[in-house]
Amino acid sequence: MLTLEDLTKTYRGAPRPALDGVDLRVEPGAFLALLGPNGAGKSTLINILSGRCAPDRGAVRVAGRDLSPSDPALRTLIGIVPQEVRFDYVFTVEEILRMEMGFYGLRADGARIALLLERLSLGAKRREKVRSLSGGMQRRLMIARALVHRPRLLLLDEPTAGVDLNLRRDLHGFLRELNGEGLTILLTTHYLEEAEELCGRIVVLDEGRVVADQPREAFLGMAGDHLTLDLHSGQEARLRSLLEGRGLVAEAGAGLRVVFPRSARASVLATLAEAGPLVDSFQILRPRLEDVFLKLTRKEAALV
Ligand SMILES: Nc1ncnc2c1ncn2[C@@H]1O[C@H](COP(=O)(O)OP(=O)(O)O)[C@@H](O)[C@H]1O
Ligand SMILES: [Mg+2]
Repeated sequence: MLTLEDLTKTYRGAPRPALDGVDLRVEPGAFLALLGPNGAGKSTLINILSGRCAPDRGAVRVAGRDLSPSDPALRTLIGIVPQEVRFDYVFTVEEILRMEMGFYGLRADGARIALLLERLSLGAKRREKVRSLSGGMQRRLMIARALVHRPRLLLLDEPTAGVDLNLRRDLHGFLRELNGEGLTILLTTHYLEEAEELCGRIVVLDEGRVVADQPREAFLGMAGDHLTLDLHSGQEARLRSLLEGRGLVAEAGAGLRVVFPRSARASVLATLAEAGPLVDSFQILRPRLEDVFLKLTRKEAALV
């Protein structure tokens, strides 16, 4: 669906490239997370794909065609939700979508607009001016706008920034449905749990280079083969000494935390059963995407 080869971009006057030889292949139907610390080059990559920024070097192919921002056929294949919210604020929600259809040379399709607004929980706002919408609503309207022409590849640059938790969950459901219908999605986000929940493949950029590119499970496996047991207890001191008696070292935090190798699962569960009366609540966690992300993007950890 999308192929990048040796994509390189240095902004004028910048000390180092924003993108430094990025290679990436996105298969049709993929739901890919593009992660990276601030300044890693995520938005630059998306802006190149949207034609807002020209690369110094490298090839971009979408559905087998070389990227040329002026190629109208190509434009119709991609939907883009940029990081900054930008609208002509004097127009209504519906007008924005009608105009966007016009931009793609399509007749305004009221049914399509109504459906998109419905699925993005904006139905009730369709006659309101964009400037009266909250930040989260404007973000959702950007997503509707990126979809009016039924693109095959959707690029989302931090689409859930400033969107509250409930709406974020709705939005996740919507993106998952779109992906289920065959839309290829590339998502950048600061919310790592969002990438973990939605994306089958995780790519991490750091300083303009790809530092990881793995299916989700393999990516999570890079955290190491350990599990974490979090315990809460009204009798923490007694619980701690019981655990220590069984060879389990508990770090204190909000409650007690034991990190143990996956191979010790059975004996840890047996200890947990024994400690049961002292435990108010517990949770066993597998490594999180955050663990791997920090490992990859913290310079000191990169030396390990
Ligand atoms: N328009 C621009 N002009 C000059 N430098 C830029 C511009 N946009 C981004 N940069 C720089 O390029 C690097 C990558 O930025 P960006 O692509 O926005 O990263 P991200 O989206 O991952 O936070 C950063 O060092 C940033 O300061
Ligand atoms: Mg960005």
